[in-house]
Amino acid sequence: MTAPAKSSRRVIAIDGPAASGKSSVARELAKQLRFVYVNSGAMYRAVTWFVLDRGINPRDAEAVTDAMEHARIECDLHDDSSRLFIEGTDPETHLRDVRVNEGVSMVSSVPRVREILVEKMHTYAREYDVVMEGRDIGSVVFPDTPYKFYIDASPEIRSQRRAAQGQADQIAARDRADSSRTASPLTIADDARVIDSSSLTIEQVVQQIIDDLRAKGFVLAARPQASVA
Ligand code: DC
Repeated sequence: MTAPAKSSRRVIAIDGPAASGKSSVARELAKQLRFVYVNSGAMYRAVTWFVLDRGINPRDAEAVTDAMEHARIECDLHDDSSRLFIEGTDPETHLRDVRVNEGVSMVSSVPRVREILVEKMHTYAREYDVVMEGRDIGSVVFPDTPYKFYIDASPEIRSQRRAAQGQADQIAARDRADSSRTASPLTIADDARVIDSSSLTIEQVVQQIIDDLRAKGFVLAARPQASVA
């Protein structure tokens, strides 16, 4: 990615717990608005893969910090979506590995990991209008954006969604760890609009967000494209 060209790009923050539907919603919203889609969870997963690949124990915060300090991490785009290269490798196909699912909450709780990746998130937003999903985008990464959404769903629905994706992911344990850590825990920003997606389709959630953005005076540059299944 080239050096930041402009500041004051628009940032739409989509936060929420695991399997709340925020990824599908954020991806579709970005497509409709023709914004870049940034998946910050995938960035934490990429770093977790790297740590595990180097044989580092994800519980060893000092070793994780040291590995991060020395790693070459580059932001890129693939089909208008964020991609992180670490030491020249794109770990995309490994991001949902069981061991990454198991290690990511520990790695993402290391403060230096968060500092380095938050800086990368800012790099994307200096260059592009972005829809960025995560846990702390509205509360910590971009506290000044007026466009904040928190997507939630009942624990039962979230477990069903992960199971339907054929994934072994202890989402309850991960939610506990992500909400109780010291560094930027999962919280609802005071000024976020909360949407419970339990009984809504992706299109309905996206529409609620677009209605809210319009009410806030957000100018929609592109006409919505066909919706996803
Ligand atoms: O969105 P996800 O389930 O792929 O995120 C994987 C993990 O990354 C999640 O368990 C916590 C961490 N994460 C984070 O700490 N902060 C973010 N902004 C996004 C994800």
